[in-house]
Amino acid sequence: MMLELQDIYKSYALGAVRVEVLNGVNLRVDAGEFVSVIGSSGCGKSTLMHIIGFLDTPTSGEYVFEGRKTAAFMDEELCQIRNRKIGFVFQQFHLLPRLSALENICLPLVYRNQPEATNEKIARQVLDRVGMAGREMFRPGELSGGQQQRIAIARALAASPSLILADEPTGALDSQTGQEIMNLFLELNREGITVLIITHDPKIAGQCKRVVRMQDGTLREA
Ligand SMILES: Nc1ncnc2c1ncn2[C@@H]1O[C@H](COP(=O)(O)OP(=O)(O)OP(=O)(O)O)[C@@H](O)[C@H]1O
Ligand SMILES: [Mg+2]
Repeated sequence: MMLELQDIYKSYALGAVRVEVLNGVNLRVDAGEFVSVIGSSGCGKSTLMHIIGFLDTPTSGEYVFEGRKTAAFMDEELCQIRNRKIGFVFQQFHLLPRLSALENICLPLVYRNQPEATNEKIARQVLDRVGMAGREMFRPGELSGGQQQRIAIARALAASPSLILADEPTGALDSQTGQEIMNLFLELNREGITVLIITHDPKIAGQCKRVVRMQDGTLREA
């Protein structure tokens, strides 16, 4: 088992008002799965992904990652998991505009105590993996949206994660480019990486082995 959410609640305090976003979410994802999360805008999909990716914590409930209860993790462990086990991909790519493609891909590796040449070698490998060999020195602004997303996926891959979390990764792309990005995720999943993808696009969700729908703060198999 990769991860399990048990009765997860999440609410935000906005002044005197509490906004309940997640109301008892249960989800189990096995290693090697490809899951898509669908649901209307504002229903809490990104909130859920942030919790799964340790970018946010639940108000209550238990989150078990690779067999371990995460509530007891120390900050250092959380950083390690975020950095080494999980790769993030976002709708707007979130690349640093002043850095080259290669430097962007190296970012998750710079905290590691290893020679720069090692990082660069890894970065070149994943750049090649996503079909962007030759674009090492391009900056994000010199690349198309689809190419930028490939670089963002390469950055996610640099840490050789076991889980990729993608929040509407095709949302800013035309349908053909979006499909190419989806094909890349499908390939990575075939190579053994667990993928969880949030999408509004039924065509994208339809290609996933498993679809879960978020509604009224809970998840249901769709
Ligand atoms: N930091 C925050 N503080 C207060 N409320 C928040 C915060 N983050 C999210 N919310 C609220 O939680 C709800 C769910 O937001 P979330 O971003 O998870 O939705 P979503 O399903 O990802 O929507 P979309 O499909 O539009 O991206 C929204 O009502 C939002 O206002
Ligand atoms: Mg969202």
